[in-house]
Amino acid sequence: MTLKVGIIGCGSIANHRHAPEYRQNPYTDILLVYDPNPDRARKLADKYGGQVAGSWEEVVRHPEIDAISDCSTNEMHHLITTQALLAGKHVLCEKPIATTIAGAKQILAAANKSGKVLMIDHNQRLVSAHAKARQLIEAGELGNILSFKTSFGHQGPEHWSANGTNGTWFFKKARSAFGVVGDLGIHKVDLLRYLLQDEIAEISAFSGVLDKKDEHGQPIEVCDHMSCLLRTKSGAIGTASFSWSYYGDEDNSTILYGERGIMKIFAEPEKDLEIIKADGQRVLYQLGAMQTNDNQTASGVIDAFVEAIRTGQAPIATGEDGLAALRIVEAAMESAATGRSVRLET
Ligand SMILES: NC(=O)c1ccc[n+]([C@@H]2O[C@H](COP(=O)([O-])OP(=O)(O)OC[C@H]3O[C@@H](n4cnc5c(N)ncnc54)[C@H](O)[C@@H]3O)[C@@H](O)[C@H]2O)c1
Repeated sequence: MTLKVGIIGCGSIANHRHAPEYRQNPYTDILLVYDPNPDRARKLADKYGGQVAGSWEEVVRHPEIDAISDCSTNEMHHLITTQALLAGKHVLCEKPIATTIAGAKQILAAANKSGKVLMIDHNQRLVSAHAKARQLIEAGELGNILSFKTSFGHQGPEHWSANGTNGTWFFKKARSAFGVVGDLGIHKVDLLRYLLQDEIAEISAFSGVLDKKDEHGQPIEVCDHMSCLLRTKSGAIGTASFSWSYYGDEDNSTILYGERGIMKIFAEPEKDLEIIKADGQRVLYQLGAMQTNDNQTASGVIDAFVEAIRTGQAPIATGEDGLAALRIVEAAMESAATGRSVRLET
């Protein structure tokens, strides 16, 4: 059975991941694509197949479409993904699931009503080193995890987004909502939940506009850096930093400190995952570098989405995972705004 696919939003993530990975997947054909910028839609269709639609509603309503990638800007996800689910389509929605908790709940309600697959693109779960880390933690290699340190930063979305300028929507509050926290931070809070199989119970955050300017040379409306302290439900305490102002190299590292040793993931050049046991013994796993803005290898996200549709099994990152990550982002934003630590219901 071939699944007919629609892609809504034909910017950077659609070009780097969704469209090429649908093209490579043996069970999918791209039928329709849409972007308010018709040139972007036309270029994507010319390269990867499909026709250009006149509106996102046309894609959502098209009777032959089985599955939709929602690669639109953040503020549109709750509208497009909700309508796509209610129209009976499976949906792979980009992160963040929505810009408000209410929007995310609306999406979850639509998914429950439709019974269709809803996956959120928390693709860090699929990176080989992270998948291996999860396995090793589950096998008890580290014992209980006591502390952690994670970071995701690069030179900023003006170098990534299709717009390619400081006028990018990523810098606008009404569209991105959370700045770097909704862009990069949400990946790492999701990864912490996934690796630790634990919930974030309390967060304390500092954020700021350290460097980024908008198209008028003014500081941007959303934060370009956040550093946080986090406590999990089971009592682990750690730190997380998210930044659009790491110039020169990307940092996508995570270090976990357990009773039996330390696990370092992408913490040092040429070392994907290393375990340093309590007795000092080192075990190195080379698993393949992760995707960076400059190195776009296949993420596996489309294969995972298609697999969930074909098997009926839950996708690797569900709507509930998307909502949980969004709650942590909102708590971090609240903490940074109020100067107080924020507790989450767990
Ligand atoms: N999972 C990941 O690793 C990852 C990486 C980057 C971006 N993203 C997410 O993907 C989404 C798109 O980001 P991007 O990097 O492709 O940005 P981008 O700026 O390159 O592209 C966004 C596209 O959406 C289009 N768009 C704007 N309004 C729209 C609307 N009303 N309907 C449909 N399309 C609309 C824009 O014209 C643009 O072409 C964002 O939600 C972002 O957070 C995820």
